Amino acid sequence: MHPERPSPVVAQPDLSEQEFRAALLRVAEWVLDYRARAVALPVLARVRPGDVLSKLPPEPPAQPEPLERWLHDLDEIILPGITHWNHPGFLAYFPTSSSAPGVLGELIAAALNANGMLWQTSPAATELEQLVLRWYARALGLPADWFGILTDTASTSTLMALAAARDSAGLPTREQGLAGQPPLVLYCSEEAHSSVEKAALVLGLGHRGVRRIPTDAEFRLRPDALEAAIREDFSAGRKPFAVVATVGTTSATAVDPVPEIAEICQRHGLWLHVDAAYAGSAAVAPEFRWALAGCERADSFVANPHKWLFTTMDCSALFTRRPAAFRHSFSLVPEYLRTDAEGAVDLMNYTFQLGRRFRALKLWFVFRGFGTEGIAARIRAHARLAREFAAWVDAHPQLERLAPVHFSVVCFRVHPEAVDDEAALEKLNAAVLEQVNATGKVFLSHTRLRGCYCLRLAIGNLGTSREQIRTAFELVCRAAGLC
Ligand SMILES: Cc1ncc(COP(=O)(O)O)c(C=O)c1O
Repeated sequence: MHPERPSPVVAQPDLSEQEFRAALLRVAEWVLDYRARAVALPVLARVRPGDVLSKLPPEPPAQPEPLERWLHDLDEIILPGITHWNHPGFLAYFPTSSSAPGVLGELIAAALNANGMLWQTSPAATELEQLVLRWYARALGLPADWFGILTDTASTSTLMALAAARDSAGLPTREQGLAGQPPLVLYCSEEAHSSVEKAALVLGLGHRGVRRIPTDAEFRLRPDALEAAIREDFSAGRKPFAVVATVGTTSATAVDPVPEIAEICQRHGLWLHVDAAYAGSAAVAPEFRWALAGCERADSFVANPHKWLFTTMDCSALFTRRPAAFRHSFSLVPEYLRTDAEGAVDLMNYTFQLGRRFRALKLWFVFRGFGTEGIAARIRAHARLAREFAAWVDAHPQLERLAPVHFSVVCFRVHPEAVDDEAALEKLNAAVLEQVNATGKVFLSHTRLRGCYCLRLAIGNLGTSREQIRTAFELVCRAAGLC
């Protein structure tokens, strides 16, 4: 009697080794080819909402399809709908790079499929994460004994930090929630990222639980206004519990005065979280260490390797000198996750997520592929390009710079002498932006500073050269009729 024939799916549960080998090589070729031709593609996708979706079948295939068909659709349907963050002309938001070492780390992490929720579920993933974060802290000149953990984004890191801050504020929030407690308040500048306010919403504080503190002429949080707000809230019976200082604000890359803010936090017993999502990595270059002055006093600190450390999305580093506070907030161990590995760090106890991917591998590869001096040289070169662009703006009588250039971002606008009306300037600059981005050669974004609409050029992609920023400058001038 013959055993029952297994169904084909069981007989070949995945691609055969031979098929996978061929597919890997083919995909490697695709990646290399993409990286070579990306520069010729329009940086900003030229599709309209729904275009991509309308070209794809609504049902998944019932039977396997050959790789060539997947790749055909990738080239024909997906690629035209990609805004190319990897394009050297990507000068919007905070540009990122999927550096070669980062891509390699990502590939191997996918192959390993390690889940570092507990130490025992992937000892090396847990320990490498701790090591590589110590390297990162050391490279930034921050305390190497800080506890570090990788998350997906700064939004998550800040949410976790503020949860730990809330639960360490001396109220029984972990046991009883917020009901019956005095209203909790946290502080950040009016220029702080929206993720701070989103975290407050998730944490049950509401919009009213966040006080946006005014900034000075250079968009930095004003310590005197912070002190006054905290005092006012205490005397009104509210419960101040945390301050978020930003090193490198999203619009103008302003650096809040962290030493003074740390003093205030210490005086009032508040948790200090520093959001250095973009600019933190600059401190790998020693001449940018000034920006992190006072950060060693922070209770928690976030910097994103996926922003300016050439690591593929996603990778955010959250550091704390108070890991016990994170355990207090997040440790909850059901029977099925109990282990008895003595001395082991189970990262699930420090975050609200359980499963965690092996992000440390790509960060490790980036450090090994470039070295800290190589990273510093790249950051330095980007900052130099930004200063050069700023100098062209400053030298042009009809262009106006709206913020100091500390790192690699320039905020500016077209401002013809004859036009003084804000609404007209906004209309003009929005039209210039649209025209520049429609060329497909570069992609700039915009922001608003003190109510003024402005163009924002940011450098952070490894491929960006003087040529792209010169092109951006000339395109702005042409679109504005200045040349
Ligand atoms: C200062 C700052 N903080 C936080 C964030 C949010 O980053 P993420 O996308 O990693 O959540 C940003 C994004 O640009 C930012 O500029």
